Amino acid sequence: MSKPVILNIAPIPAFLQKSLESEFDLRTLDTLGDAAGISGLVSSAIRGVDRATLDRLPDLKVMSIFGVGTDKVDLAAARSRGIRVGYTPDILNDCVADLAIGLMIAVSRKIPQADGYVRSSLWAETGKVFELGDRVSGKRMGIVGFGRIGRIIAKRLAGFDAEIRYFSRSEVPGCPYERVPDLPALAAWCDYLFISVSGSAETRHLIDAGVLEALGPRGYLINVARGSVVDEQALMAALENQTIRGAALDVYEVEPLNSPRLAGLRNTVLLPHVSSATNETRTAMSDMVVANLKRFYAGESMLAEVA
Ligand code: DGY
Repeated sequence: MSKPVILNIAPIPAFLQKSLESEFDLRTLDTLGDAAGISGLVSSAIRGVDRATLDRLPDLKVMSIFGVGTDKVDLAAARSRGIRVGYTPDILNDCVADLAIGLMIAVSRKIPQADGYVRSSLWAETGKVFELGDRVSGKRMGIVGFGRIGRIIAKRLAGFDAEIRYFSRSEVPGCPYERVPDLPALAAWCDYLFISVSGSAETRHLIDAGVLEALGPRGYLINVARGSVVDEQALMAALENQTIRGAALDVYEVEPLNSPRLAGLRNTVLLPHVSSATNETRTAMSDMVVANLKRFYAGESMLAEVA
């Protein structure tokens, strides 16, 4: 029996590429030629799948997304054509939460700048004590969005003897932490505001100038969710005017980030959207991308399918 024909449109790890090649007749955009007969599509959460791509694939039946966020996948178009969508939730929660903690410490203790101080030989040349950072332990932590990842961030933060509160649409049953239903009130209360809500039309610019003002000159913003959740213009103004103390970001409104203005700010730590980028997690995500497709073609339910 011939193998199902799959198109990959995203940069993917070599090990995923290899697995897809061994299981399917894998095509890429460069070698696409005639799109007829392509029944499966692989993309990443970062690359997404737009309507124009779907329109080019008349025989598409299934997509397998490498990642958990589906904000860049045109789900409405997929639904209207009955195209099923697999993705890779849960297996990346630990790594995303780990990185949120890493960002908190990095921005508070100025780890990138301190590293640069040693590497540039300035320490050796001047012998000067490096500038002070801010203590993390025992601080007030606000978490925006208390889903799968938000809860693991809270679990990690409990180890810092932190006081934790969260903002979410509804109360999380059995949660030991206080829910603050008013986002500016949570921002005003906390020292660190962690963003862990999905990107969507509803959460776009949830963190706006008012929330940043409430966070105030001692507050830090940590974003491992989606850039669209934060009004980046308002954030840059707040960082420039030091009306917030700092920000540590893994995600941006436009990626890859090309913002000399944001990059020029010293009170930031900027990462290139790597929260799930560990060998272990990316391997598990790759396995799930392949398993979702294999199960679809075997007529079984996918391991994780977007509702
Ligand atoms: C996701 O899966 O949505 C992440 O942001 C990409 O690593």
